[in-house]
This record gives sequence, structure tokens and C-alpha cells, in this order.
Amino acid sequence: MVQKTYLMLKPDAVANRHVGEIIARIERAGLVIERLELANVTPEQAAANYAEHEGKPFYEGLVAYITSGPVVKMVVSGPDAVPIARKLMGATNPRDAAPGTIRGDFGLVMDANVIHGSDSPESAEREIAIFFPV
Ligand code: RTP
Ligand code: MG
Repeated sequence: MVQKTYLMLKPDAVANRHVGEIIARIERAGLVIERLELANVTPEQAAANYAEHEGKPFYEGLVAYITSGPVVKMVVSGPDAVPIARKLMGATNPRDAAPGTIRGDFGLVMDANVIHGSDSPESAEREIAIFFPV
């Protein structure tokens, strides 16, 4: 089924100049870029996106990190786009992410793990509304 997902290249991906290579992988996998914008995440967007993690020990650091510099926000579509993007991304902790995955190849640590991707079509709808409100 054709799905939309929200992907975001995190501040470390932009700072380390990995944007082009990561977008190339997304397109090579057959996914279609529908929206794309370089921007800073506002504290309000960060809090809304990571509401499920509020109160956890890593929450404050996560919000500080995601608002620390520009990100690349994307809406991407294709058949099963949500699980396909998650597969391209690899495990949350780059240490556990397989070689050949985006986190496995471009990430080193959990706190700066290169890319965000929605974990379900429902999350995607919610996240797209947060990051592309108009
Ligand atoms: P994301 O939302 O960023 O795509 O990552 P994910 O679904 O693979 O992982 P999630 O559980 O949603 O966690 C969101 C982000 O929080 C940081 N995190 N740190 N120190 C920790 O135990 C810990 N757990 C999660 C990660 O940066 C993760 O991407
Ligand atoms: Mg998540």
C-alpha cells in the first residue's frame, strides 16, 4: 500500500555533509520525495515530536540536540514507505546498526543517530502535521 512517511536528517547529518548521500539512498530505494526543506526545529516541534519520550532520562538531551542546528525535513512516499525507510535507517543505536544502513554507515553514537523516520503510518500523519503545518 502506498504510504507517506516523515524523515528528518538530524543536525549531525547536515553538519557532517552527509545529506546528498543519504537522499541518494532514499531515492535509489524507490521512494519519492514529496516535500523537502532545510530548517531549524523549534522547541515546540521537538516537544510535540518526542512527546512519547517526555520524562525519560534522555529526553532533555534529545530536545537540545534536535534543536541544535539545521535539519533536513522530508515527506517521502511509496509502497510500504514507513517500514522501507526504517529498514534503510537501521537500528536506533548506530553501534547496533548493520553496515549498509544509514545509521550503520554514517552514525557513531545513540545521541546523534543521523536520521529520524516515522514508526507507523499514524505517526507519519502526526509528524507531517508538526513539521509541515501548511
Ligand atoms: P527516531 O524516533 O529518532 O527515528 O528513532 P527511533 O524511532 O529509532 O527511536 P526512539 O525510541 O523513537 O527514540 C528517539 C530518539 O531518542 C534517542 N534515544 N536515546 N539513550 C537512550 O536510551 C535513548 N533512547 C532513545 C535516540 O536518538 C532516538 O533516535
Ligand atoms: Mg521514534
